[in-house]
Amino acid sequence: MNESLFPKDFLWGGAIAANQAEGAYLDGGKGLTTVDTIPHGKDRLSVKLGIEKRFSLRDDEYYPSHVGIDFYHRYKEDIALMAEMGFTVFRTSIAWSRIYPNGDELTPNAEGIAFYRDMFAECKKYGIEPLVTLCHFDVPMHLVKEYGSWRNRKMVEFFTRYARTCFEAFDGLVKYWLTFNEINILLHSPYSGAGLVFEEGDNKEQVKYQATHHELLASALATKIAHEVNPENQVGCMLAGGNFYPYSCKPEDVWAALEKDRENLFFIDVQARGAYPSYTKRVFREKGITLEIEPGDDEILKNTVDFVSFSYYASRCASADMNDSNSNAANIVKSLKNPHIQASEWGWGIDPLGLRITMNMMYDRYQKPLFLVENGLGAKDVVNEQGEINDDYRISYLREHIKAMADAIDDGIPVMGYTSWGCIDLVAASTGEMSKRYGFVYVDRDDQGNGTLVRTRKKSFYWYKKVIASNGADLS
Ligand code: BG6
Repeated sequence: MNESLFPKDFLWGGAIAANQAEGAYLDGGKGLTTVDTIPHGKDRLSVKLGIEKRFSLRDDEYYPSHVGIDFYHRYKEDIALMAEMGFTVFRTSIAWSRIYPNGDELTPNAEGIAFYRDMFAECKKYGIEPLVTLCHFDVPMHLVKEYGSWRNRKMVEFFTRYARTCFEAFDGLVKYWLTFNEINILLHSPYSGAGLVFEEGDNKEQVKYQATHHELLASALATKIAHEVNPENQVGCMLAGGNFYPYSCKPEDVWAALEKDRENLFFIDVQARGAYPSYTKRVFREKGITLEIEPGDDEILKNTVDFVSFSYYASRCASADMNDSNSNAANIVKSLKNPHIQASEWGWGIDPLGLRITMNMMYDRYQKPLFLVENGLGAKDVVNEQGEINDDYRISYLREHIKAMADAIDDGIPVMGYTSWGCIDLVAASTGEMSKRYGFVYVDRDDQGNGTLVRTRKKSFYWYKKVIASNGADLS
């Protein structure tokens, strides 16, 4: 066995999100959220992208978030499984509409607070640190219908009230916080990312970047409040990461890749460096965007995050000739197919070295500790006659990515921890499928909502347990 390259206090664990796991979509006083209105099936994409408005539920549609994997009722059993693997961190999100069912109330829902207090206490019982995202792809529907979601500046007030409630209610239980999950996804999937739908005649770019400005203000204010409530709180931003490679060394392709990277990194540039980056002026001019910015906003944005978290599934690829017909979405962001790497069954490239490249770029750019809070392989699992799931393909993907992360640490990058995505099988955000599985724990449920929801340990469960016990030294 090699010597571990990971620091002694490195946090090992896994990640889920309320909207893909909890289910119980109206229990405990919870209000309806955006994701609860996104159906499985052929209309999913147009609803997610904000092209088709779906503000109410239909009897003839199946909505995977309504039951999820029933984490709401089974979290004790699930956290016990995480503890058995040796987790020291567990990433999940709070469903905003459990705390403020409509989003614009002045008083929170006590039942929602009680649920999360119990759940976080359950983690702490096993010495597991919760890492909590305040907003992971779910906006209370009332805020979408009444205010137009993040296109409206009033959202800043609603979100900061919600954030303060969480920091105060969970003080002593949670110290690691993320404001918005994959904040850059707002650009690529506006409804699922930020509750945005478009009206006839909208300049979409204008709407998206005005909403972005509001989210950035809300994130900066939440960071400030978190530090005021408890100086021990550590707040991170969260990027859907993965560098763009130029398709060739043609200068135009290299420039295209740089521009694509900036499009996504823009958010983190603001959250980690505290101001709009110098390239924004030209980009906004070219897109016909004029932002409504109020006096004092620049000061607010100076409240930067303590660490930079990100997801990494795949690298991306761009060229000057890239367009809708020659590119595909891997983790929602459009990319050309890279002929030098393999891809998953869903066409997401598999590129461990790309992780090391991404981490080096991010640390060079931000000089803040990194936290890899999502990484994993979505794959179809088969339960054999003995009831076992031998997911060697998943072990191999994770092994190579953990090795790449170790290399990045060896490159001198401070890394706080690793939470692989979907440590227990859950609903896929892109497709709404259960059959796109990421977990160490199998959940008996299919794409149509049939199954017992019974949990079963996969082969990767025992492998990851060994990885954690050896602090990343034993990846065999
Ligand atoms: C990230 C999200 O985009 O990727 C998760 O933060 C999501 O919510 C994950 O589940 C994997 O994507 P998918 O579509 O395979 O679930």
